Amino acid sequence: MAETDIRRIAVLTSGGDAPGMNAAIRAVVRTANYYKIGCLGVREGYAGLINGNFLKLGPRSVRNIINQGGTFLKSARCAEFKTPEGRAKAFEQCRQNQIDALVCIGGDGSFRGAKALNDEFGIRTVGIPGTIDNDIFGTDNTIGFDTALNTAMEAIDKIRDTATSHNRVFFVEVMGRDAGFIALNSGIAAGAIDILIPERKDSIEELFGTFRRAEKSGRMSSIVVVAEGEELANVYDLAEKTKKEFPDYDIRVSVLGHIQRGGRPSCADRVLASRLGYGAVKGLMEGETNVMAGIRANELVFTPIEEAIKKHNDINKDLLKIYEILAM
Ligand code: F6P
Repeated sequence: MAETDIRRIAVLTSGGDAPGMNAAIRAVVRTANYYKIGCLGVREGYAGLINGNFLKLGPRSVRNIINQGGTFLKSARCAEFKTPEGRAKAFEQCRQNQIDALVCIGGDGSFRGAKALNDEFGIRTVGIPGTIDNDIFGTDNTIGFDTALNTAMEAIDKIRDTATSHNRVFFVEVMGRDAGFIALNSGIAAGAIDILIPERKDSIEELFGTFRRAEKSGRMSSIVVVAEGEELANVYDLAEKTKKEFPDYDIRVSVLGHIQRGGRPSCADRVLASRLGYGAVKGLMEGETNVMAGIRANELVFTPIEEAIKKHNDINKDLLKIYEILAM
C-alpha cells in the first residue's frame, strides 16, 4: 500500500457541468478509499467550500452514477470565491474539516480558484479538466467533450433530414464560448458545408463563395456549423446577411444550446473520467500539487495549473484542410 500523509481530500465540481463529471467523482472517491484516504464531497462548487456544504463520501455513495450526466455534487460559478475574503472562508472550512487536499473538476475558471487556494493557503490541489468545450491545455480531451460532440452530431444529423426535405440552408450554432473544437469536429462528422470557428479569421465573402460553389455543384441544401464564440457574426446575423445576398435561399437558424451539456456520458468520457479521477488522487499521494491531471498521447500527465490556464490547444490544421476538401 502506498504511503501518503494525506488523510482526507475534498472533491468538487465547478463551472459549466459536463457529462462524465460523475464518473470522475466516483473515481476520486473509490481511489481514495482504496488507499485509505477519507473523502468529502463539496456541494455546489466553491460556494459549498465557503459555506461548508460537505458530505462524506464512501465507495457506496457513488454507486449508479458512472452512467449519469451532470454532476450529483452540483456545480456553480461563484463570485464570492473570487474575493480574498471568500477564499479565506473556504480555507477556514478546509482547516476545520481537516481537508489536506482538494480535487477540482471543472474548466479554467475553476482551476484559477484551485490555484489561488494553493498559492494563498498551501492547500494541495489537483485539477481535472471537465468541460464540453475541450479548451484546456495539458490534455488531449476534456471530460464531456466526446459526449457533447456526439450530441451535436446527432442533432445536426436530424437537422440535415429536414434541410434536405425542404431544400433549406441551416445555420447551426454549437457551444464553445471561446473555442471551436465542438464546431470543427461535429461539423466534419455531420458533413457541414462550412464551419466557422473563433480560432480562424473568417470572412463573409468566403462564406458566400462556399454557397456559390455549392450551387454550381448542384447542392440543394446546406448546413453551416457556427461556434458560439465565432467572431465574424452570430448565427442570426449570418443568416440575415446570407438572405440579402441570396434572396432565393430558404434559411433557418438552429441554436443547439444546453442539450450539448446533458445526457449520459459516452464510453470514451467515462473511461477518461475514471483515468483522471484515479490519476488525480495518485498524483496528490505522490506529492503533486497545483497541477492538472490530463491524458496526452494516452499517458497520464500533470501540467502546472498556471500553464493549463494560460496556454491553449491549437486547432488541428489537418482537420481544417480535411473539412474543406470533403465539404463539396
Ligand atoms: O464552458 C462550457 C459552456 O458550455 C460554453 O460552451 C458556454 O458558452 C457556456 O458554458 C454556457 O454557460 P452557462 O450555462 O452558464 O450559460
